[in-house]
Amino acid sequence: MALLETRGLTIRFGGNLAVSEVDLAVEAGAVTGLIGPNGAGKTTTFNMICGVLAPTSGQVILDGRDVSRLGTHKRARLGIGRTFQRIEVFSSMTVRENVQVGCEIRQGWGRTTAPGPQLLAPKGAELTAADEVDLILDRLGLTEHAEVRAGQLSTGRARLVELGRALAIRPRVLLLDEPASGLDDTETEEFGLLLRQLADAGLSILMVEHDVPLVMKVCAQIFVLDFGRIIASGTAADIQQNEAVLNAYLGSAK
Ligand SMILES: Nc1ncnc2c1ncn2[C@@H]1O[C@H](COP(=O)(O)OP(=O)(O)OP(=O)(O)O)[C@@H](O)[C@H]1O
Ligand SMILES: [Mg+2]
Repeated sequence: MALLETRGLTIRFGGNLAVSEVDLAVEAGAVTGLIGPNGAGKTTTFNMICGVLAPTSGQVILDGRDVSRLGTHKRARLGIGRTFQRIEVFSSMTVRENVQVGCEIRQGWGRTTAPGPQLLAPKGAELTAADEVDLILDRLGLTEHAEVRAGQLSTGRARLVELGRALAIRPRVLLLDEPASGLDDTETEEFGLLLRQLADAGLSILMVEHDVPLVMKVCAQIFVLDFGRIIASGTAADIQQNEAVLNAYLGSAK
């Protein structure tokens, strides 16, 4: 069974059916993609998975448990982590402090077992919180910027800080909303490798992203949304040949 599922997820804003009957399955230890044109309902779907928005109907199931009625903080505690399309970092805090906040939150919860950056450390390493912050900064290429205030960073780098903070919480499933936007080609390449490593270490990732080559490279399974509905799902090879997807999205994507 998938670690995270949505069943018939639907939300209506007045007359606008923004997301309709969406069934997603996010497998454990893999990167799953959610793609589609602007306004298709991707961010809105994330907001319903996290509990920011209440669906009109449908369910969110985490590890077999219906979490649809739980608040955002409870879902976070159960292991749903995320980053935002419009970056949310603590801009007056340094890069290091932003990641440290994630560690402190997790320590407050007493979470130790979920997959996370610790799994990227050398085998058998016992990490202190400070070591873990250093490790995350290193993995994300942020070490030399550790003492810079997050508000002074480029968009791409601020996204990585947000990712670092989310990783420090050690989510079971991590939702990434356009994590590569603002990254240059080399950064995107490295980011793709990192996603793979995180998934291999046991983290489950659901990624919304317009960088199609990146999605095709790292996602084991891809779901395509158009006008709030899933029009296709499958492997990269399936999706790239799907006529409905070519017409709705890939034909016009970069
Ligand atoms: N709070 C809201 N109130 C009313 N309409 C909303 C709200 N949030 C989203 N919508 C509408 O829902 C639809 C889906 O928007 P959403 O932001 O989820 O798209 P998206 O797939 O993330 O697009 P993009 O690729 O541009 O980020 C749009 O028509 C949008 O205007
Ligand atoms: Mg969006």
